[in-house]
Amino acid sequence: LDPELSMPESLLPHKPIQLLEIRAHGRFGEVWKAKMEEHDVAVKIMPFKEKASWLAEQEIYNLPHMAHDNILLFVGAEKHEENLWLITQFHEKGSLCEYLKGNTITWSQLCKMAETMSRGLAYLHDEIPGGRGTEAKPAIAHRDFKSKNVLLKDDLSACIADFGLALKFEPGKSPGETHGLVGTRRYMAPEILEGAISFKRDAFLRIDMYACGLVLWELVTRCSCVDGPIDEYQLPFEEEVGSHPTLEDLQDLVVMKKVRPSIKEHWQRHAGLDALISTIEECWDQDAEARVSAVCVNERMNQLTRTLNV
Ligand code: ADE
Repeated sequence: LDPELSMPESLLPHKPIQLLEIRAHGRFGEVWKAKMEEHDVAVKIMPFKEKASWLAEQEIYNLPHMAHDNILLFVGAEKHEENLWLITQFHEKGSLCEYLKGNTITWSQLCKMAETMSRGLAYLHDEIPGGRGTEAKPAIAHRDFKSKNVLLKDDLSACIADFGLALKFEPGKSPGETHGLVGTRRYMAPEILEGAISFKRDAFLRIDMYACGLVLWELVTRCSCVDGPIDEYQLPFEEEVGSHPTLEDLQDLVVMKKVRPSIKEHWQRHAGLDALISTIEECWDQDAEARVSAVCVNERMNQLTRTLNV
C-alpha cells in the first residue's frame, strides 16, 4: 500500500508550490492562488511580525477532528526567507462577500449557503468528548466571523476560514490570553463594543452568533426571491455608518441606539425569508443570552430547506 494514499492531505510531505496570483487581501497578509503539483491550493502569506497569528491559526487547524466539509481544509504551513505561509484548499468562487457583490442568489442557493455556513459554525462551536481511542475536540470560538471569512465551494456550499483569532476552550483550562477588542469592528457585538465581555466560553460563542446574524442578513439582501427591487450589495451598517466606521460610530449605533441592519417590509412577503428574518433577529439580540445557537440556526435552515424548496 502506498502510504501517501492512506494519509490525510494535511500530513503529506510538502511539494514545491508555485504562486500564481493574489486573490484576497486580509488583515494579516495576502491570499494567493497557487499550484502544488497539479492541485490548486490557497497560500496565505504573512509577514514575520504576524508569527503569533500564523502559529495560532495552525494550532486551531491541527486540533483533532478539524477536517469537516464546512471548515476550510488545512494543507500545511511553511517558513520562507521573507515570510510565513499558510496553505489551504483553494476555492475558485472566493469569499461570500465577494460573491454577493457580483451576484444575486435564488432562495434555494440562499438556503444552501445558510445551512452549510451554520453547519460549519455549529461544528466549530461543538465540543467532541474524548473517549477510548478518540481524541477530544474542544469548543472553538471564531472571533472574526464575517462574510469575507466564509468561502464558497464550487457547489455554493460554504466553508469557514481564517482562524487567526480563534480561541479553543478545553474543559478545566483557561482559554489563554484574551484581550477583548479583537475582530472586525463592523461585526462586533454590542457587548464587545461596550467592553463588557466575560471571558467564558458561551460569551464568545454568542459573539460569533451576533456576527452570524449580520452575515445571514447579507444573504437576504441579495436574494432574488423577494418581490421587489434588489439593492446593490452593501456591508452590514454600510448604509448607516459608511465604509470606515470608527469605534465610536458603532458604539453609538449598535450599543446606544440599538440599531440593526434594516429589514425591508417587502422581504417579509416571502414565507421562507420571513421565517429566516425571525431567526436573524434572534441571532443579533442585544441580550447575548437570548441569542440562538449555531446548532439551532442550522436546524431551522434544514427545516426551511425541506419545507419551502419543493
Ligand atoms: N480567499 C481567501 N481564502 C481563499 C481560499 N482558500 N480560496 C479562495 N479564495 C480565498
